[in-house]
Amino acid sequence: MTQSQSDTPDLQAMLSRIEAAFVGKLRYYDSGLHGLSHLREVALLAGEIAAESGADVESAMVAGFLHDCGRMNDNGGNLHAIDSAKLARPLLIELFPHIDTDKVCHAISTHADGLTTDDLLAGALWDADRLTLKRLGMIVREDLLSTPAAKQMLKKRIL
Ligand SMILES: [Fe+2]
Ligand SMILES: [Fe+2]
Repeated sequence: MTQSQSDTPDLQAMLSRIEAAFVGKLRYYDSGLHGLSHLREVALLAGEIAAESGADVESAMVAGFLHDCGRMNDNGGNLHAIDSAKLARPLLIELFPHIDTDKVCHAISTHADGLTTDDLLAGALWDADRLTLKRLGMIVREDLLSTPAAKQMLKKRIL
């Protein structure tokens, strides 16, 4: 194994640990668009972006896994983001006391408000969610991504 491989966080293993921590604590909205598979995909992408950007990878993956936990439907708008942050806060304090709850909740509560950001953690979540928009039949716009890492990923995967 090379030095760079050994330094790369094992995102799948981290996702398994994060998911296991929330089993029985979260109600997963059962939807092909915003259900468990979407949470997993956004968590992995957020971790990948965070690793490239210098944000905390575990915080980004937890934010990704929880970002839509307050969803009750597939509608647009920011209300579900606020609800998700409210649901996430006590779970984060209980299960992930070593990460910055305020930062993660800020990222979750702003992930659907239509603004790019310089905040590395919020940007990782925002971009990870944007990179999955193709599943909704939407085009992922580079100018609406926050991080250079996500812009690079978009070029590699879609363009
Ligand atoms: Fe969302
Ligand atoms: Fe989402």
